[in-house]
Amino acid sequence: MLVEIIHKQHLDLREVFAQHQEALLQGHFKEAITLLNNFNLCHESHAKLEERYIFPLFEKIDRHSKWDVSLYIKEHEKIERLFENISKDVDWLSEQRISKSQFRRNIIALLDKEKTFKGLTEHHEEREEEAMLKELEEQLEPLLIRELVSDLKFTWIEIIASVKEPNY
Ligand SMILES: [Fe+2]
Ligand SMILES: [Fe+2]
Repeated sequence: MLVEIIHKQHLDLREVFAQHQEALLQGHFKEAITLLNNFNLCHESHAKLEERYIFPLFEKIDRHSKWDVSLYIKEHEKIERLFENISKDVDWLSEQRISKSQFRRNIIALLDKEKTFKGLTEHHEEREEEAMLKELEEQLEPLLIRELVSDLKFTWIEIIASVKEPNY
């Protein structure tokens, strides 16, 4: 249950990022930037939800996997730094007065950087789902899990709804 609810958030985040990449690929910078900002808002909220609701519980249980909470926190920071870097690059490129060919080459370079970002987040998300959340699910009281799942579910619905636009 807990794994499913966080997995759903991970999938929703991937979808917003894919929409941003589609716009970027077509050179639609205004849309690409809006979608990247939407992604950032959802991604930050997701990380905060984990840090507020899940990490403190994970710190308390009798952990069997080798990764403790500090690793997940460090990964959040690393992901955030790389995201800021990408965001700056997209803003910078949108303001350039260069040829179409130069635009295309810069977009390719950006997509490469975004591939690194996607690799980093996917790896982090897999670890969360396969280690941290699985262990929590095994050890926490079912009632506590049910409450947690319900809180996470409704908060996430509000977050996603806040970035939805009519043209989605
Ligand atoms: Fe995370
Ligand atoms: Fe996550």
